Amino acid sequence: MSDAIVGISAYYHDSAAAILVDGDIIAAAHEERFTRKKHDSTFPHNALKYVLLEAGRDLSDISAIVFYDKPWLKFERLLETYHAFAPKGLTSFSFAIPVWIKEKLFTKKIIRDELLKIGPGKPPLLFPEHHLSHASSAFYPSPFNEAAILTIDGVGEWATATIGYGKGKIIKILRELYFPHSLGLLYSAFTYYCGFKVNSGEYKLMGLAPYGISNSNETKTWKQKILSEMIDLRENGSFLLNMDYFNFATGLTMCNEKKWEKLFGIPRRKSESLLTQSYMNLALAIQEVTEEIVFLLAEETKKITECEYLVMAGGVALNCVANGNLLRRGTFKDIWIQPAAGDAGGALGAAYIGWHIWKNNNRKVTVGNDSMHGAYLGPEYSSSDYIRLTRKYNAPYKHYEKFDTLCKDVANLIA
Ligand SMILES: [Fe+2]
Repeated sequence: MSDAIVGISAYYHDSAAAILVDGDIIAAAHEERFTRKKHDSTFPHNALKYVLLEAGRDLSDISAIVFYDKPWLKFERLLETYHAFAPKGLTSFSFAIPVWIKEKLFTKKIIRDELLKIGPGKPPLLFPEHHLSHASSAFYPSPFNEAAILTIDGVGEWATATIGYGKGKIIKILRELYFPHSLGLLYSAFTYYCGFKVNSGEYKLMGLAPYGISNSNETKTWKQKILSEMIDLRENGSFLLNMDYFNFATGLTMCNEKKWEKLFGIPRRKSESLLTQSYMNLALAIQEVTEEIVFLLAEETKKITECEYLVMAGGVALNCVANGNLLRRGTFKDIWIQPAAGDAGGALGAAYIGWHIWKNNNRKVTVGNDSMHGAYLGPEYSSSDYIRLTRKYNAPYKHYEKFDTLCKDVANLIA
């Protein structure tokens, strides 16, 4: 029988499940698409049931379930961080630790219990590191046989960014940047300060940046202030954050608002309040700093690996403005980015680790073509599904035989 491997991400944000059969992606889905809860972090029951159904499998005929990170390493990071910053962070400590002990630390047992609700079967459980899952999701489905790998996110266990190298079925992680020094968390802190939701509104901050005025005094001064006060940025793209400005390591918020207000001269924007030019300028300042760091990291990646091609994943790789500018700089001949670059895509990366690293299977690369099947990997709905829904809600509808006519009519309605 062909060999099926499942990948799962859960318990942080963007839970998801993915399934490979003989190394080919059959299905993958976000749990939020079923529960309608944005960034749903609960165990992906619905997504898992869906991918199993799509592959025609039960849990009993899965050769492994690969979780996208190592929970106990994350716990170690939490403990060591509180220890390093003590007595700062006591409130957050007494809030976080019981949750961890009760709900997160014993992930193996929790996952087994959750799997039992889906059906019988006890496939082996594997726990690769978070950034290896990102690296795997970027490299294995890419159209390159050999590529440099750059992963950048908020944080996994300890790593917040990695430089790696992939060839055939081999992935080597060559450099790591560690928590609390994180480009993703820096960007999230600005998301928070500009009045958006962390781990969700980052794309709004990115979308706000082009409304900033590049040569305005505010943008220029703030960019300078970020680089001189908040970050110690090195030539190789690595950096240290000045933790006087940030609360995310031990606090319940992202940043030290008083210090930020003193530095930028504007208070944290209240959520849903008017977006003034200053917040647009601040969004642009952090976008420009982010791009500078991404470019330096990419240069370093090129220097270390000497590869022609680059693949990327991790939440920061969802910054398509930075990616576009990086491509235009021509550091690499071409770049491929995992479409699900955030943690949901970690489920896919985890499944690939099961297939290529744990099972040691070779990789088939069709040069010029990735293996994502157009990334249409979730549930699809037939006309009869829609008709059933219109009956349920007594909704008026018009059936179109021709897709072109449908597109024209919809475009007209939007216009
Ligand atoms: Fe991540």
